[in-house]
This record gives sequence, structure tokens and C-alpha cells, in this order.
Amino acid sequence: MFNKNIYEFPILYTNPIPKIALGWGSYETIANECRANHIKKALITTSGLKGTGIIDEVKVVLKNGGIACEVFDSITSNPKDHEIMKCYRVFKDTGCDGIVAVGGGSSIDVGKCIRAIDANGGRDVGNFAAKLNPPWMETLARLNPCVIPQISVPTTSGTGAEVTSWAAISNTRERAKVLIGAPNIHSTVAVIDPLFMRLQPKKLAAWTGFDAMSHGFEAFLTKVQSPYSYGILMRAIELIYKNIREFTHNRMNRDACEKMCWASTMGGIAIGFGAGAGIVHGLGHQLSAVTDCHHGHVNGALVLGAERYNQPAAIEKFAAMTLAMGIDTTGMTQLEMADRWFDEMEQLLHDIEIQPGYLAEQYGFKEEDIDHIYNVYANDFCSQGNPKELIEVEVKDLLKSLLDAPY
Ligand SMILES: [Fe+2]
Repeated sequence: MFNKNIYEFPILYTNPIPKIALGWGSYETIANECRANHIKKALITTSGLKGTGIIDEVKVVLKNGGIACEVFDSITSNPKDHEIMKCYRVFKDTGCDGIVAVGGGSSIDVGKCIRAIDANGGRDVGNFAAKLNPPWMETLARLNPCVIPQISVPTTSGTGAEVTSWAAISNTRERAKVLIGAPNIHSTVAVIDPLFMRLQPKKLAAWTGFDAMSHGFEAFLTKVQSPYSYGILMRAIELIYKNIREFTHNRMNRDACEKMCWASTMGGIAIGFGAGAGIVHGLGHQLSAVTDCHHGHVNGALVLGAERYNQPAAIEKFAAMTLAMGIDTTGMTQLEMADRWFDEMEQLLHDIEIQPGYLAEQYGFKEEDIDHIYNVYANDFCSQGNPKELIEVEVKDLLKSLLDAPY
């Protein structure tokens, strides 16, 4: 028998990318996009975005365009399975036929879940989690494709959820953050408006911006990276590195705001070009499930320690990312260039006011949860592409070392 398995990942699969409308004032096209996708009554999924006026503005656009709507505004960060099932019941009870998701990744991902649940007989969302065991591609293959259209309108420049084919949610029974997938789960249209993005508070601009940076470096470092993702990630890393500081501290800077919008979407697209994520997202997801900490913030807390773990397996890629950031590397060896990436990340975290490490003090994370975190992560499909093989004792030591120290 001919052995075809010459590579760990012999076939690259890309995820579909939605139609994208990106630009100042693009939110005014939301009703047109609803009509084009036959939405007559939309459920707006959102956290409420209190104090911004964004939801009122979207409702006016829908009304003027002849689209009826209901609002479900109790979505929280790290959206919980029971919130999602409640939102699904509202969707059914109010006779909606489409989703308009307005907010950060949570609001967009809840919209995706509603559509997956609806296409699959109203089953609990936990059934659609992508795990290594049972194999996630077999789980996905058994699901019906989503048919309800979704217009996604991000208000944070970070998650890229508007263009990915996954939804990150908290399974409260398993104390785990899981990635939900189903055929056709990606947004139908992504409407990305810098006018909304500039209304983020400083800390969200920093935290979600660092999430975008994490998509850049994790998708680049992963073993399943491809030439498709290479180019887009190099540019995304450059744009984020050069604009995240300015945008964090001056959200009214038009240029920095727009570039963060482009870059955060590019990170999401690259994940869908087969690149995926790795140990920072994998461990960060589970820390969020246990402590409810913010996804982008915890990525920042983990990055220095977790990527030092990966460094020996990806020296060339760390060096390439230093070059992409525009650092003068004249005279440096490849190892020095790779080390420089860590120096730059440490300075960046300082400048956008994210404290590395100190997981106990920052999030109330406890040593007794380390075994649980490792076990869930080891069965998460994020662990599959991490550049360095997972060695249980080393990963647990890594988490222990970050409890009360920066890295
Ligand atoms: Fe992320």
C-alpha cells in the first residue's frame, strides 16, 4: 500500500470569506445588505454598546430601509452557552429571518451560533464544538449548513470574527472555551466601519488590538501556514505594530483607526486561509473559560512566556516577523532577530498598558486549575498547529511560572 502521509498536514483547506464592505460610513449600507440577502426582520445580537449610540443608529438605518428588527442585548464577553440558547429562543419566538450582529467578537459569534443551531434542529450549541477527540472534521461533516443570512458589523478592531468560520464560546458545564463550527457559518456580509471602531474605550482598543496582533503572530507561527496566509500576515503584523499604540491612545486618528480595521480583518482572513492559531489562543481561551478574563488581554499576558516555549521550533519565523515590523536588523544573526521580536512585544505590551503574566493577581487564576486547563487545551483543535509539540510537564510548568511573574 502506497503511504500518502508524507506531511503532517498534507491538504490545505481554506474557509470561505464573506463579502466585505469596509469604509467610513459603510454602516449606512446595512439595510441594503439585508434586502439583498432577503432579510425582512433582523435580530440584532449585541452586548448593547451602552453610551455609544451605535445600536440606535443601526435601528434607524434598518427602519429607513424597511427592515424590521428585534434586539437581543445581553451578550457578555466570552459568550456563555446558556445566553446563546436564550438568544436562539428569542430569534424563533420573534419570527426573525436574519441576524445583524453589532459589537465585538462575542456578538458576532453568537449570531453564528444561532444560525448553526437553527440549521441543526435546535440542538444545544455545545454539540458543534471542534475538538481533536471526537475528530472535528467528522463532527463538522455531520452538520447541516447554516442557511440564515448574517450581516456582521464589528465595533472592535481585533477579533476578526466578522470574517472567520468559527465562533468562540464558553461551555459552562465543561468550564471550557470551545470553537464552534458548521458548514457556511461565516458571515454573509461583513460591514466594517471605522466610524464605529473609533468609539471603543482605550482599554478595548488595546486589548482587541492585541488580539489582532495575536492572530498575526499565531497564524504565522502555526505549522499549517501556507503561501496564501504568508503575505497577508506579514502586512497585518506590520500594520498592527505601526498603528496599535497610536490608535490605543488616540482613537480619533483617522489613519491609525482605518489601518487597525484593515489589519484586524486581515488576521481573521489569514486564519481562514488554513493558518489557524496556537498555544497563546489555546491556553488563553481556557483561562477565559475559568476566570472570564478578556480574550485579547490574556493573550497579552501569555505571549512572552508561551512564545518562548515555541521559539526553538520557529526561529526563522520569529526573525521574519521582526523584519515585517520594520525593525533595522542589519548585522543581526537570525537568533538575534528572533530575540528582538520578544523585546519588541514586551515594549509594545508596556506601551498599550497590558501587564504580562501575573495570572493569579490579574485574573484570580489558581494553580489547582492548571491540570484542567492543560487537559482541555490538549483536546482543542488550536493545539494541532502549534509549532512546538505539546509536552505536558513543560506546558504546566509554563502556566505555573506565569502565576506570579511576568514570564
Ligand atoms: Fe483571538
